[in-house]
Amino acid sequence: MIPTVEWKDGIVRMLDQTKLPQETVFIDCKDYETVAQGIKELWVRGAPAIGITAAMGLALGARQIPASTFEEFVSQFEHICSIMAATRPTAVNLFWAIDRMKKKVLDNPDADIEALKIMLQKESQAMLEEDRAANRKIGLFGSVFVANDDNIITHCNAGSIATGGYGTAEGIMRAAVEAGKKIHVYVDETRPVLQGARLTAWELMEEKIPCTLITDNMAGYFMFRDMIDIAIVGADRIAKNGDVANKIGTYSLAVLCKEHGIPFYVAAPLSTIDFSIESGSHIPIEERNAREVTHVFNKIQIAPEGVPVANPAFDITPARYITAIITEKGAFHPKDIGKLADENRNLDRLRIT
Ligand code: MRU
Repeated sequence: MIPTVEWKDGIVRMLDQTKLPQETVFIDCKDYETVAQGIKELWVRGAPAIGITAAMGLALGARQIPASTFEEFVSQFEHICSIMAATRPTAVNLFWAIDRMKKKVLDNPDADIEALKIMLQKESQAMLEEDRAANRKIGLFGSVFVANDDNIITHCNAGSIATGGYGTAEGIMRAAVEAGKKIHVYVDETRPVLQGARLTAWELMEEKIPCTLITDNMAGYFMFRDMIDIAIVGADRIAKNGDVANKIGTYSLAVLCKEHGIPFYVAAPLSTIDFSIESGSHIPIEERNAREVTHVFNKIQIAPEGVPVANPAFDITPARYITAIITEKGAFHPKDIGKLADENRNLDRLRIT
């Protein structure tokens, strides 16, 4: 398993996912600004991986703070948090991770500054390890919904490299295979950034899980021909009512599944649930650069010069299209997901605006 992000002797090493699958390149970030740039420019992407990377970036940033008093440290740390928070708006794991790191600082006002810096690095490492463990559980809980010989469809990349390791949606596929089931996966290419074609197809092939790459607009064709049994996707943010934000195109896939009676599962850790919002309509949707749509890999122009472009990176799938949300606490009907809030009061956020 290639680590998406790791802390190595005072640097944050990221796998540059924009270069996959052709090249496996790592970028060594020596300051928090480079980490923030990496999140913004998709060197690291996928909600849980974004959160973990931001936490490591904050631990790195903390080491750059020259403060001698706690108050000075907090003020400079909050500035770094605000820069990290401005990288990508949709995946709530980013804000969850920032808030958790902030809480670590605020809960330790009597700690020595150097000790605080070490605590922050340990906290970011704990997030990575907890995420990996959560994904194993998601895999176990989710794999019971996968039958032998199932044809699964997935969208975007919710694999090992989108998380601390093992993956959420792909974690379920891995766990099903580990349990001895034979599966085959239809991989949506996922326009415009092609996370499906470049990353999911690559990860599945590395794992020797049989897969077929299709363009996004082919999903209905395969469903109509009874060639798909189950859909499994990841999530970027889940509202209290079970509405799910995920990569653009997820909503269309869920509607198609409903029409064809295909169960539609969402796999995500608790860090992806935003207990502060009632419904998906409150989820901010990232609008990305038009060149992702008008050009292939920022190089070959495929649309007329000057054409108006819309490029929302995510959409909202209403809870009614979702069969179950699979977390490390088990599988839930989407309308019950908000109930987890009571169990997770300790996750209540110090909201960053
Ligand atoms: O823009 P991206 O590549 O960060 O979007 C990623 C997704 O939409 C994933 O499906 C989601 O973050 C889940 S990753 C386990």
